[in-house]
Amino acid sequence: MTATKGLEGIVAATSSISSIVDGVLTYRGYDINELALHASFEEVAYLLWFGKLPNAQELNDLKRDLDTFAPIPQTLIEQMKLFPKDTNTMAALRTAISALALYDEEADDMSRTANEKKAVKLQAQLPTIVAALSRIRQGKEPVQPQKGLTIAENFLFMLRGEQPDETSIKALDQALVLHADHELNASTFAGRVTVATLSDIYSGVTSAIGALKGPLHGGANEAVMRMLEEIGGLDQVESYIQDKLNKREIIMGFGHRVYKNGDPRAKYLQKMSRELSEMKGNSDLYEMSVKIEEMVTGQKGLKPNVDFYSASVYTQLGIERELFTPIFAISRVSGWTAHMLEQWESNRIIRPRAEYIGLHDQKYISIELR
Ligand code: ACO
Repeated sequence: MTATKGLEGIVAATSSISSIVDGVLTYRGYDINELALHASFEEVAYLLWFGKLPNAQELNDLKRDLDTFAPIPQTLIEQMKLFPKDTNTMAALRTAISALALYDEEADDMSRTANEKKAVKLQAQLPTIVAALSRIRQGKEPVQPQKGLTIAENFLFMLRGEQPDETSIKALDQALVLHADHELNASTFAGRVTVATLSDIYSGVTSAIGALKGPLHGGANEAVMRMLEEIGGLDQVESYIQDKLNKREIIMGFGHRVYKNGDPRAKYLQKMSRELSEMKGNSDLYEMSVKIEEMVTGQKGLKPNVDFYSASVYTQLGIERELFTPIFAISRVSGWTAHMLEQWESNRIIRPRAEYIGLHDQKYISIELR
């Protein structure tokens, strides 16, 4: 038995949800480029869960269900108010989703119908929770979700307490489409491992949130923003990045286990970042990002991943850094839950082996002799 570090190149499951072949990402056979340009996030979530694009009636039904499920229990809001104000938002989200299960009588109902309903419920409630966490942290009352809005629009509405502008809604909706699923990424794998024990969907999503939080995965978008803040301005980029490159330090938002020739999602976020900077008449963050890309790609051949330009996009949308990874979760919960439903279709517990590299033939020594 020989272990492969990081399971690189190991095919650990079959899936019909999304695929990455020769650098092309598809959801259910649809190229991400088509979906990014034409599909709404709600259509994409439906596609991931049910394997086909919804017709008008099916989409309306989904939107009605999302509206119905979007409010969260008041008791949960009261609990969230007790969280430390300066806590990591992903940690708070992880706790809130875990707590949410306590208020769902069907949490442990493992029928397909109940699990599909919980997938939609989680999708509807995650944005409400993230927006509430943000407002509570700022000492404000959470804003109730409004019916008849898209997920992107409703999230921004709950965050700001006022109707968002069209540009922000469109940008966020496209970002949600681009983050919705990504084959057997770390958080999806964590979620599948959890539910393969026949544990419930809330436990699966809680595991997935824990995995997404790390800076080598979803947490990278916040780490990119921290780096941009630390750099401070365009004229500081060169010395800062060169120093990191010289020290062979990891530069957040670059590299990918699967994509070696570039992440197909990154170009949309770059374009969005450029357009927002033109619109706002302030291109500082965008220009800094481009300069970093030139240096990192030029010297290391590493291309930006989905997280790199997300940082400047979300900041230009007026969203605070602490919400970047939670926004990733708002989108990816569609993919996570689709994968959990798929896992249960032909389940077998996921239990790999480890290559033992520890000591052998140890003899017990009584405590007074150690
Ligand atoms: N900055 C500097 N060097 C890097 C980076 C980076 N961002 N990414 C990879 N490298 C280097 C590695 O150190 C390694 O160098 P070596 O051969 O001299 O040891 C080489 O490139 C190959 O990389 P691996 O370590 O094999 O990459 P791996 O597949 O294990 O990790 C990962 C992929 C975690 C994404 C890595 O590229 C990384 O840490 N990137 C920064 C964090 C990040 O942006 N994460 C988000 C990924 S996308 C997502 O999850 C949504």
